[in-house]
Amino acid sequence: MKPFRIAVFASGTGSNFQAIADAVQAGKLDVRIELLVCDRPKALVVERAERAGVPVFAFRPKEYASREQYEAEILQRLREREIDLVVMAGYMRLITPVLVEPLYGRMINIHPSLLPSFPGLHAVRQALEHGVKVTGVTVHYVDGGMDTGPIIAQRAVAVEPEDTEETLSAKIHTVEHELLPSVIRWIREGRVRLEGKTTTYVKDGMGQ
Ligand code: GAR
Repeated sequence: MKPFRIAVFASGTGSNFQAIADAVQAGKLDVRIELLVCDRPKALVVERAERAGVPVFAFRPKEYASREQYEAEILQRLREREIDLVVMAGYMRLITPVLVEPLYGRMINIHPSLLPSFPGLHAVRQALEHGVKVTGVTVHYVDGGMDTGPIIAQRAVAVEPEDTEETLSAKIHTVEHELLPSVIRWIREGRVRLEGKTTTYVKDGMGQ
């Protein structure tokens, strides 16, 4: 089978990048991570990519006249590498039609809440402030809105009375590290069908 080429976008620690790289390394995820795109050259995720032998495009947004300008450069790099899927794993920037339009249906994002609850920044803090008893993780296709695209998969995480932003984030991260590589695998296997605003998951002949 032709290699399935992914690019990961991230801004910070990159534990989700690591979960993907580890799944690939362990032979559990049959994709090639062709590129890490990072808007903070000093972020830990850049070191993780270098250690994993993944090429990095790290840029400083301030050095560009506009968001559209750096996105055009990102798009060119994705095209050069014939990327099949873009995975946003903690990329903390809004994106514009320069990326969304050509990549619609080929770009996913992970978000630390059960969307449509708590989109945007500080989703874990928002959930705690709201007093919800269950929150979770969503993986969705990226559209032009803020965390509004078609949902592919969600997992619930219980909120305990003693939870702080730190403890709840840690629980959410554990769930993310399992879910994100799984969703990438489903897409790689052609199991995720995007139909308008929703998606369906196609089981294989074994009912799995
Ligand atoms: C993850 O929890 C991800 O869901 C969240 O950023 C974290 C990145 O962690 N993304 C968003 O909040 C996007 N709105 P990581 O750098 O350790 O992978």
